[in-house]
Amino acid sequence: MVTRLLTNIGELLTNDPEYGDHSAVGRLRDAALVVDEERVLWVGAARDAPAADERRDAAGAGVLPGFVDSHTHLVFAGERSREFEARMAGERYDAGGIASTVAATRAASDDDLRTQCAARYSALGVAGVTTVEVKSGYALDVAGEARLVALASEVTEEVTFLGAHVVPSEFRGDREGYVALVAGEMMRACARARWVDVFCDEGAFDVDEARVVLEAGRAAGHQLRLHANQIRDIGAIELATEFDCASVDHCTHVDDVDVERLAGSSTVATLLPGAEFSTRSAYPSGRRLLDAGVTVALATDCNPGTSYVTSMSFVIALAVREMGMNVDEAVWAATRGGAAALRRDDVGHLAVGARADLVILDAPRAAHLAYRPGTPLVAEVWRARH
Ligand code: NIG
Ligand code: FE
Repeated sequence: MVTRLLTNIGELLTNDPEYGDHSAVGRLRDAALVVDEERVLWVGAARDAPAADERRDAAGAGVLPGFVDSHTHLVFAGERSREFEARMAGERYDAGGIASTVAATRAASDDDLRTQCAARYSALGVAGVTTVEVKSGYALDVAGEARLVALASEVTEEVTFLGAHVVPSEFRGDREGYVALVAGEMMRACARARWVDVFCDEGAFDVDEARVVLEAGRAAGHQLRLHANQIRDIGAIELATEFDCASVDHCTHVDDVDVERLAGSSTVATLLPGAEFSTRSAYPSGRRLLDAGVTVALATDCNPGTSYVTSMSFVIALAVREMGMNVDEAVWAATRGGAAALRRDDVGHLAVGARADLVILDAPRAAHLAYRPGTPLVAEVWRARH
C-alpha cells in the first residue's frame, strides 16, 4: 500500500488526549501524520516525521478528522421551501409536512431517488463528511421502505429503518395496525438496516407505540436510536435510555431529570441545530448537557422539512454561537461525538490505527469554522478506502 506523509500542519486535532496538549481534541501544532490507503500509521511533530512514499506540504493549514454525520434523511424527492417560508413568517412546525415528502418520494423512480441522494451525499462529502448515517422514512409502506433502505445502502453502511416516522394517511384510523406493520413485515423487509429509529414526539408516535417498534427492533438484532423531544417532551428520553439507544436525537426540550438520565447512561445526545434554525425554534443548551457529563454529538439532520443542511461547518458555527459550546467541543461533537452516536471507534479521530479520514482546511485553525460562517473552508478531504 502507498504511504503518504502530510506535513507542515499548523494545527492538527486528533481527538485523542494522548497527543499534543492532552485535551479532548488532542491538539498538536507544527504536526505531521502518515497514512496508508486505510489507516493512520504515525502522528507527531513535523520535525520527527518519518519518510513515506508520497509527501504533501499542508503549508500551515489546520487538519481535523473527517466529520461523522450521524443523522440524515438523504433519500427523498421534492422540496418544501414554501413550508420553510411559512415558518419564517411565524407558522409553527408540526410533523404534518412529512406527508408531502412521502407523496413525492413514493412517486419518484429509483434512478431519480438515487441521483438526488447522490447529490446530497456528495455535497456533504465536499464539505468534509466522511461517515454518514442515512434513514429511510419517506415511503411508509413495506416495498417503499425496503426500497429506501436499499438506496441508502448504496452510499453507506450506517442505514437506519425509520418506518415509524409518522402514521401515513391510509392508516389514519388504525394507528395500532400501522405500528404492527412497522414492527413486523416492514421491519423484516428492511432487515439489512443496521439501525431502527422512531420519531417519538407529539404528532408522530407516543412512548407506547415507540416501545413496540424498539422491542421488535431489538429482538430482530438491530441497534437502536430515537428521535426525541424535538416538538415536546413526551417521555422519549427515558424510553431511549431504558432501551440503551446509541443516540437520542434532537433533545430540543430537555428537563433536569432527562439531563441526569443521559449523564448516567451510554446514550449520546445528538443535537441538530439546523432543525432549530429552520423551524425558528429555541436552541437547546449544549453547555448544560456537557457540564452534566453527557456525550454530545452534532449532525446535520439533512431533510427537506426541518433542516435542508449539508454543511457540518454551519452546524458547528450554530453550536458555538447559539448553544454555549466552545469550538473544540463543537468540532469534537461533529467528529468523535458522531462516531460515539454510531457506536464506532474507528472513525472520528486520528490516532494511530484509526481510519485515514481527514479534512484539510483553507484556514490555520479549526476555530475558523465558526469564526467565518458561510465560507467553505474545507479545502480537501482524504478518505480511507472502504
Ligand atoms: O429529524 N423529526 C422528524 N424527522 C425529521 C423531519 C422530517 C420532516 O419534516 O420531513 C427531523 O427533523
Ligand atoms: Fe431526523
